[in-house]
Amino acid sequence: MTDLSTTIADRTFSNCMMNAAGVRCADENDLNQLIASPAGAYVTKSATPNVREGNPEPRMKSLPGGCINSMGLPNHGLDYYLDFVLKDQAARPDKTNLLSIAGTTLEDNLAMLHKVADSDFNGFVELNLSCPNVPGKPQVGYDFDRVREILTQVFAFYDKPLGVKLPPYFDLVHFDQIAAVLNDFPLTFVNSINSVGNGLVIDPNAERVAIKLGGLGGIGGTFIKPTALANVRGLSLRLKPEIAIIGTGGVMNGTDVFEHILCGASMVQVGTQFGFEGTRIFKRLSKELSAIMAAKGYQSIDDFKGKLKTFDD
Ligand code: SIN
Repeated sequence: MTDLSTTIADRTFSNCMMNAAGVRCADENDLNQLIASPAGAYVTKSATPNVREGNPEPRMKSLPGGCINSMGLPNHGLDYYLDFVLKDQAARPDKTNLLSIAGTTLEDNLAMLHKVADSDFNGFVELNLSCPNVPGKPQVGYDFDRVREILTQVFAFYDKPLGVKLPPYFDLVHFDQIAAVLNDFPLTFVNSINSVGNGLVIDPNAERVAIKLGGLGGIGGTFIKPTALANVRGLSLRLKPEIAIIGTGGVMNGTDVFEHILCGASMVQVGTQFGFEGTRIFKRLSKELSAIMAAKGYQSIDDFKGKLKTFDD
């Protein structure tokens, strides 16, 4: 019998798989479906202080094996999601879930976090430092001094469990630099990676870009898995052990989940393929991961978490 549960900080999750923020988690109906599924937790759509329409459509296009999106954080505003998680927490006090926050300014993030700090919410906040789709707002996760400034101000008052969602890094020096910043703070987790920003997808028949806003958007799907794995592994080798890693990117099947965990992920989020399949994906992935573990004689994810071998081992 394989055990797919996982632990982050002192919280146990019945399953190591969950949705990624942004996909099918924007309203109560979506979130209730996640609650009813085998997913070990849910994360809410990244919230801004007020309702936000997001970018003009078309802003998402499916591709073979993935998608491009430039959603621009359409969401119902923080109060909507905070109200949902508080009601859920009252109904299911033994469960931990994630509230995603993505202010487009530091002031917005601090104001939202003050509201969460003042509430009874005792789950995890996922502070999104990596949305690539807000015109005029660079991805904060690429500005290491700014990340330090934000976390300094956040942890000056916020003392509940909090993690950050990071963009993908492509240079080992950047892994070193971001890890050096993150290791200076009492983070509960990092989530790596958000979509690969500013890809360009073209409709060759129309000879036109596939989505609005110049055609640029975040890329998700099978083709970003090597980048995601490199980031999960790169951070796992550099972060202090108290900071857990949530692995996200390119998860289509149980092997992908297995590989994220081998690289050091304690939990694995599914975005693009969850968008295609809906909550039934969690049953399929659980079955596939269990089969891999059973074939290898692994009983729990701790049996292989972070134990990726190299040719030097
Ligand atoms: C979006 O709403 O643009 C996607 C959210 C994200 O990539 O963080």
